[in-house]
Amino acid sequence: MRQEAARAVLPPAVFDYYQDGFGAQVSRDEAAAAWRDWRFVPQLFRDVSRVSTEVELFGARLAGPVLAGPTALHTLAHPEGEAETARGVEAAGSLLVLSSRAGRPLSEIPLTRPWWFQSYVLRDRDITERQVRAAVAAGAGAIVLTADAPYVPLRPVPQAGELSPAARTVGMEQDPALELGAIGWLARISGKPVLVKGVLGARDAVACVDAGAAGVIVSNHGGRQLDRTVATARALGPVAAAVAGRVPVLVDGGIQDGGDVLTALALGATAVLLGRPVLWALATGGADGVRDCLDLYRADLARTMAQAGLPAVEDITADVVTRG
Ligand code: FNR
Repeated sequence: MRQEAARAVLPPAVFDYYQDGFGAQVSRDEAAAAWRDWRFVPQLFRDVSRVSTEVELFGARLAGPVLAGPTALHTLAHPEGEAETARGVEAAGSLLVLSSRAGRPLSEIPLTRPWWFQSYVLRDRDITERQVRAAVAAGAGAIVLTADAPYVPLRPVPQAGELSPAARTVGMEQDPALELGAIGWLARISGKPVLVKGVLGARDAVACVDAGAAGVIVSNHGGRQLDRTVATARALGPVAAAVAGRVPVLVDGGIQDGGDVLTALALGATAVLLGRPVLWALATGGADGVRDCLDLYRADLARTMAQAGLPAVEDITADVVTRG
């Protein structure tokens, strides 16, 4: 398995930093299993001689609904860091959500495909604004506001030298008094759609959309923030129902194969994001590994859609899954 291959090549402190959740790791450990609580109800007598996994998201055409999510410090996995990730994502026809805690500066990352910038709102809003404006100048097509991390939990970061000293100054910390108005502020300064990441509750999802969010991402941060948060495979359905198609709903957390992607789409997601799987792929295979990882998810989704009688993502309706 890719995770075990990564364990074999990464220094133990780096592997643990990537793999760890928080606290008792309840959320991290149950994320994948929660997708497998759902069962498919295949559709018969459909023409699946051709299957298309293509989707369009904010004007970007993607080979499949599987994105590389924002994760910090890719330089710990590969000397080229996010530059290598970006090359792999491009080769797969996918989309990179670049973390604001990337290990490489923007100018050193070949961002040719459509890409989005993940931002926190820092205590120092000037720094936030400068980062967002630099990302937009470098071509970011959307801003992803991560809202589920009022505080960074204390966890050892290996090779602390990789983090610039500024990252540990107070101004660089996330603003723990973040308000909904931050969505409109980011939209104004960026001129781009703003998606809110970390939504788990239906009421919050509606509040974000009412406040101007162009999308919501159902996520519990891979179990790295508040532990014992609801699994995203359970939170997604109610959030999608409450959003009611006003904006796209995306999801991440423990997504391991095409069956999980199909489940997410049937529960109302437009696309999914991968966190750790991309890190494992980067560590073991560089850009080629990242490309293969994204291609494999897409091919597995296509195979699963064919067997379930679903020729295109538009055909994936809620009645395709039921609780197992
Ligand atoms: C993350 N995640 C994250 N999220 C974010 O918005 N900004 C960030 O900088 C990071 N950094 C980060 C580092 C590492 C090592 C991990 C594992 C995760 C959370 C990430 O975007 C995503 O929500 C989860 O990783 C999804 O779960 P899976 O796919 O890892 O199970």
